[in-house]
Amino acid sequence: MENKATRNAVVDVRGVPLQVPIAKYFTRVDEFQAHKDDLLIATYPKAGTTWTQEIVDLILNKGNEEKCRRAPTHVRMPFLEMTTLDPAESGMAKLEKMAPPRVIKTHLPIQLVPRSFWEAGCKVIYMARNPKDNVVSYFHFDSMNLTQPEPGPWPEYLKKFMKGELGWGSWYDHIKGFWREKQKNKNILYLFYEDMKEDPSREVLRIAEFLGKPLSKSVVDDIVHLTTFDSMRDNPMANYSTVPDSVFDRKASEFMRKGEVGDWQNYFSPQEDAEFEEHYHRTMADTPIPFKFCLHKTTTKCSL
Ligand code: PPS
Repeated sequence: MENKATRNAVVDVRGVPLQVPIAKYFTRVDEFQAHKDDLLIATYPKAGTTWTQEIVDLILNKGNEEKCRRAPTHVRMPFLEMTTLDPAESGMAKLEKMAPPRVIKTHLPIQLVPRSFWEAGCKVIYMARNPKDNVVSYFHFDSMNLTQPEPGPWPEYLKKFMKGELGWGSWYDHIKGFWREKQKNKNILYLFYEDMKEDPSREVLRIAEFLGKPLSKSVVDDIVHLTTFDSMRDNPMANYSTVPDSVFDRKASEFMRKGEVGDWQNYFSPQEDAEFEEHYHRTMADTPIPFKFCLHKTTTKCSL
């Protein structure tokens, strides 16, 4: 019998709001023993994690499509802190059964990443996405994922994002934390969703080089083709279609929703945009990070 999903509240874990079940088992995550060859893919939720995961798996498997269709994303590359109704399916349970080297997903901000990753000198790929598209994507995800806190109406949701009250906390602290760390840690590759959209071949090559896995031009082309939004949307091992409708309400939104840069223009009112920009510039003043909010400046809204 299928267990029914319930929306989890968030509680404070060392200053970061995390879902109650994640908080409850956090000691286990904290004590996770990373191996030096494990790779961590870290992101704020909805920044392009799944896309990065698919590219990485294809690079590690030299572009072999069949090998990368061996299992769904969350089985191939477990989600470190994720708890599930069935405890055997949690990220930790999967990882404990998996031999290194493992590719591990996390949304934890840098201060909550288990110490063993840093002690072992693991490589980390961080993917960041401009906050306006990031929050729009998160809003749709919270509408469809029935284990996430209730999103409520969009205007209030946007305010919660700006205040850092959504699950996994402040986007601003998250993206700054890894940015500062990468200035001193050469094992962190910091990527931008917008750069991937702009020139996926260039970014696939950067990731391959970082992983020490040189690729021929034809394999790069294959990987770019297999990881377009359309290819991944149609790939049952990369589109989360194996998650039951009782957890993902696909009438509310699709997991593979739009995959665009600049979709925020369809959601932010002029007033919200003005307030957001004022808050953004103030909050980012101490750590300027070059986010792109549109790939082509076709509208006056893309002032950033
Ligand atoms: S999660 O749940 O946090 O792991 O979600 P995450 O994978 O980080 O983010 C989901 C958003 O990424 C988009 N996506 C892609 N965009 C472009 N190309 C590819 N291949 C791709 N794969 C996933 C996905 O559509 C979500 O963004 P939105 O804006 O909601 O469409």
